Amino acid sequence: MAASENNYYLKPNVALEALYDRWYAWAHLVSPATAAMNIKDRHLKIMDSYVQNPKIHAAAVKKPEMLGGPFIDYGGKRVDEIKKLADEIRDKRAHLLQFADALNELNTLLQEHAKGYSLKSLYAKVPEILKGFVELYYDLNDQPNFRFFEALLYNSEFYDESAQTIALQLVESDTQRSFVLSTPRLDDESTIHAKIPFRHPVIDQLFRMKRTPGDYSAIKKALQIKPEQEELFESLFTLEAPKEYEKYTGQGIRTRYFGHACILVETNEISLLVDPLISYDGYENDVPRFTTAHLPDQLDYVLITHNHQDHVLLETLLQLRHRIKNVVVPSSGKGNLQDPNLKLMFNNIGFNNVIELDEMETMKLDGCVITALPFLGEHSDLDVRCKSCIHVNLHNKYKVIFAADSQNIEPKLYERVHKMTGDIDVLFLGMECDGAPLSWLYGPLLPKKMDRDKDQSRRLAGSDSREGMSIVNQFNPKDVFVYAMGLEPWLEFISSIKYTDQSKPIVESNLLLEKCRAIGINAERLFGEKTIEYHEHAEVVSV
Ligand SMILES: [Fe+2]
Repeated sequence: MAASENNYYLKPNVALEALYDRWYAWAHLVSPATAAMNIKDRHLKIMDSYVQNPKIHAAAVKKPEMLGGPFIDYGGKRVDEIKKLADEIRDKRAHLLQFADALNELNTLLQEHAKGYSLKSLYAKVPEILKGFVELYYDLNDQPNFRFFEALLYNSEFYDESAQTIALQLVESDTQRSFVLSTPRLDDESTIHAKIPFRHPVIDQLFRMKRTPGDYSAIKKALQIKPEQEELFESLFTLEAPKEYEKYTGQGIRTRYFGHACILVETNEISLLVDPLISYDGYENDVPRFTTAHLPDQLDYVLITHNHQDHVLLETLLQLRHRIKNVVVPSSGKGNLQDPNLKLMFNNIGFNNVIELDEMETMKLDGCVITALPFLGEHSDLDVRCKSCIHVNLHNKYKVIFAADSQNIEPKLYERVHKMTGDIDVLFLGMECDGAPLSWLYGPLLPKKMDRDKDQSRRLAGSDSREGMSIVNQFNPKDVFVYAMGLEPWLEFISSIKYTDQSKPIVESNLLLEKCRAIGINAERLFGEKTIEYHEHAEVVSV
């Protein structure tokens, strides 16, 4: 590097992967109780299975329909390294594995001994390591359960930051990274692994350099880059300034779709970013898209719809953390295993400005009102409260609903909501109406394996055309936009979906678009990028 080192940028195609025990981290791997269950019943199970029969995994990942399944994508190779990683995890996370066993034990205790009488005497029988972390209770039908005092778990050895690392690499194509949720990230010559907990400010220092030049030596030192990593580390930096962000200076409202469920709403006063998931920039690709270059220096409000991997993407969130003023999350249930608290999760990874919104609760800002609307479905009928559709009302002129993956199982719900909100201008809706079975996401949290037919019936599914149309008919939007639902090529790393024209989400969304157009509504399935501008005294213009 040159003598003057204060003018280096981090390249726009430097990817960050937040890892937990080398597994791609998501919110359930930060929240302590869900992390323990995932180590035991997902990570170790998949790794043990690979060690036993790597060829089965190699064959499975070649089948598109098996891509999202529990199969490691190393072509049947690197078995010794996977075994070593599993051994290390068993050793270093022994306390978390004990914690997971204790949870199962507590569950058995409640099922066998909590028969509707006082639970007082059972506290003495709670496994020792869970004592003081749980409250036992009945529902009104005498069904026993327990909940955590989750904040206490974060202040115990069970919040194990030593499992957290970050990986840095250059992205050179949309499809370079394999599906991240079932393959742990082993060492390779193009990735730098750094032992840094997610909350560490050095992540902000590093990613600030994507837009503001900085001191190469300082960042190298801060990340404790070893001499043998230096050549690779150096290749992540450039003297070339990135594309400049063009500030929105119009008098109206600009809404931009960034792919998947990620949408930016800007006026000349405020910026809102929904479910951040941003493509990298600076490499050859075929599909035009907005990237970090199209984000303002400051994001006033990041809005999260629900706690699934593709809507709380730590990869994007950590890179943007230094620009984010506030994060708005749906409030969670209080301490149930399947519904970890998202505010606590964010607080513990370095976001200090997190606001929880309850159903129908409203935040009134200058010229902008944000309301969390109820969200049904997409959570396999589990008691998960951390989900909301987001209603934004700008200057009382432009009203939009980000419905995310809400499945409109009960149309009466939005009929009641509509009485409070009135009509809207724009609806954004996901229509992943096939969905994975319950066990795909929540399996490791179950005390016993669910019957296959029950599991298959309880899916992580959004609205089909009939359910979607009933939202449309209720809120009378002028524009309806259906998300691409994983079709964007740069999402392969997080979305295992490969659709054909016959896939239900495509058939159903086509049907919804047709029905909308037939009644004069502008309707489109998004793909790549989209800008919608709203000017006062004019209709919504989509360009
Ligand atoms: Fe989801």
